[in-house]
Amino acid sequence: MAQIIVFGSMNMDLSIDAPRMPAAGETIAGSGLITAAGGKGANQAVAASRLGADVRMIAAVGADGFGDELTRGLERAGVDCARVRHLADVTTGVAVILRTAGENRIVLHAGANHALGSDDVASDLLRMGASGDVFVTQGECDPAATEFALRAAHERGLYTIFNPAPARPVPDDLWASVDLVCLNETECQIMCGVLPVDDATCLAASCRLRELGAGAVVITLGAAGSFGVGPDGVPVSVPAAPATVVDTTGAGDTFIGALAAGRIRGLSLEGSMRWGALAASLTVSRLGAQPSIPTAAEVEALR
Ligand code: RIB
Repeated sequence: MAQIIVFGSMNMDLSIDAPRMPAAGETIAGSGLITAAGGKGANQAVAASRLGADVRMIAAVGADGFGDELTRGLERAGVDCARVRHLADVTTGVAVILRTAGENRIVLHAGANHALGSDDVASDLLRMGASGDVFVTQGECDPAATEFALRAAHERGLYTIFNPAPARPVPDDLWASVDLVCLNETECQIMCGVLPVDDATCLAASCRLRELGAGAVVITLGAAGSFGVGPDGVPVSVPAAPATVVDTTGAGDTFIGALAAGRIRGLSLEGSMRWGALAASLTVSRLGAQPSIPTAAEVEALR
C-alpha cells in the first residue's frame, strides 16, 4: 500500500491557560499547565497514522529527554521513526503556547527542527519514497531543505501536500511542485496576497494559488469550516463539525493528516475535507496536540 512520508517538526509543547493575553510588562496568573507532544510535522504524522495510514517521519530532535519522549510517542502512535535523527549539538524544538478562550498563541524554539539540510532529506526520500506515495511538509523546518524536498518528492512522482505554517513567501516556481496546499486565512494572505473572508475571496485566493502552479487548494477557516478547489477547478465548502472547544492546538494538523490519509484511501478532496472536519472536531474538544488526535474508530463513531 502507498505510504505517507512526513518531513516536519517535532516539538515539546509547554501550554498554559490564561484568562487573557498579558499586556507588555504585565504578569498574570495562569492555570492548567501541560507538557504535551506537538510540532506540526509530528502532529500531522500522528493524525494520518491514527486514521489508518502507513506513515514514516523524517525529522530531527536533540539527544535529550524531550527528543526521546517525542520519538517514543510517535512510535506508540504507529509512525515509523527510523529516520528521526537524535543530534548531540542541538536541543529539541519547544513551543510555548498560551491558550486564551479556546484560541492559542505560540512562540517557537526551532532547535533541531532546523538541523536537517537538503542532502539529508533528499537521501531519505530516495531511500523511502516511491511514485504514488504522499509527501507532507510544513514551514517549521529549514526553508531551503523544505523547498528542496518538495521539488524532489514531486519529481519522484509523490503526491505533495504543503502546509506553509508558519508562512513565509516562497519562490514562484516552487508552486508547480505542490499538488495540494492547505493553509489558514493569515497564511493564505502571506502566500498569495489575498485574505480569505468569504466565498468570493476564498475563490480568488484559490485561483491565485492555482495560477501560480498549485494543483489543489484547501483553506481552513476555523469555526467556518474549510473551502477547497481541486484540480478540476470546482469549488467546495465544508462546514466545521460541531464541537465543544477546549483547546484548538493541533486541530489544523489533524485536518491535514486526514487530507493525506484520505488521499491514500482514495477519497475525493471533498470526502477528505469532511473526514478532516470530523477528526478536528474531536481534537479541539480535548487538551494538547498529539494527546487529542483521534483514531479512525473515534471519527467513524461521529458519522
Ligand atoms: O499546530 C500546532 C503546533 O504548532 C503545536 O503542537 C506546536 O508545537 C507548534 O508547532
